[in-house]
Amino acid sequence: MTKRILSGIQPTGNLHLGNYLGAIKNWVALQNDYECLFCVVDLHAITVPQDPIHLIQSTRETVATYLACGISADDASIFPQSMVAEHSELMWILACHTPLGWLNRMTQFKEKAGKQKDQASMGLYAYPVLMAADILLYQATDVPVGEDQKQHLELARDIAGAFNRHYKKDLLTIPEPRIMGAATRVMSLRDGSSKMSKSDVSDASRIHLKDSDDEIIQKIKKARTDSGSFPSDSKELDGRLEVQNLLNIYLALSGVDVQTVYAEFGGRNFSDFKNHLADVCVENIGPIREKIHRLMDEQQYLDSIIQKGTAKAKVLAQDTMRDVKKTVGLCNF
Ligand code: TYM
Repeated sequence: MTKRILSGIQPTGNLHLGNYLGAIKNWVALQNDYECLFCVVDLHAITVPQDPIHLIQSTRETVATYLACGISADDASIFPQSMVAEHSELMWILACHTPLGWLNRMTQFKEKAGKQKDQASMGLYAYPVLMAADILLYQATDVPVGEDQKQHLELARDIAGAFNRHYKKDLLTIPEPRIMGAATRVMSLRDGSSKMSKSDVSDASRIHLKDSDDEIIQKIKKARTDSGSFPSDSKELDGRLEVQNLLNIYLALSGVDVQTVYAEFGGRNFSDFKNHLADVCVENIGPIREKIHRLMDEQQYLDSIIQKGTAKAKVLAQDTMRDVKKTVGLCNF
């Protein structure tokens, strides 16, 4: 069986350190060992209102960000989800095989819809079924994501299993989640109990991949810690969510072993550690930011990557759809 990766990110503004450490950095690490498809999930983005002109530019910028982070367009297929119509087509078929009870369990819908559940779109509710379609359409074996997507991946596995059992054949590959690295859930810099997120009202809560060196340094300096000193071992991390988060970010970006960090900074005050953390962030993010800016000036090049990626993805998507339609008994002359 071909070892194949599918993953994606919503083009909803500036990508941040959570997207990088939870997803893209791991894609880069895995890309040589798998056939890779990385989509920009613009159909997921429209589950909440978007400005059309801004959305299309964000889609290009997300492609530029994948490339700037080190995804190779020679090997991977990079494309917007909406360019391969089979995503929506398979989504409908899967939706007809997904019990409402499974969707009612999805915590992300509850968080995003909030108290205004009746005002939320059907798209927002059905969002995890579209995500399942993204993955199952390509028979992906592995899906590298941050920890917040774990429940959606379990649903994708359940839907594939139910579909296969219903038609008594192993048509859809059951994907494995790949939640990797030291920072699988990067938390807000202002509140260690909430996830770093594009939708947080506070810009200081997250580091964007397009932040200037100075912005990065200021955000790390102002990141919340507590009155204790830097921990000397894992026991001293108990209940210190903000400290754990900064440590995880440092470990993920520097690749340094945790014991070395305890030995170097344990017992010292936080400003020493924060200076090092800011340096590591600037070293990692600075070159990505510069490359995103350069690539955004090369729109034709970005569009050529999109066209090439879309063409490759379509071949695989059409293969699966042919089998699925035949299996379900839909016309496909
Ligand atoms: P999205 O756009 O919210 O996030 C994209 C990726 O970034 C990861 N991520 C994080 N990881 C660690 N810490 C954080 N604070 C953090 N914030 C975001 C996410 O886990 C994700 O890997 N539904 C998905 C997109 C999607 C998808 C797919 C992913 C659509 N179809 C198919 C995989 C396969 C989403 O909204 O991710």
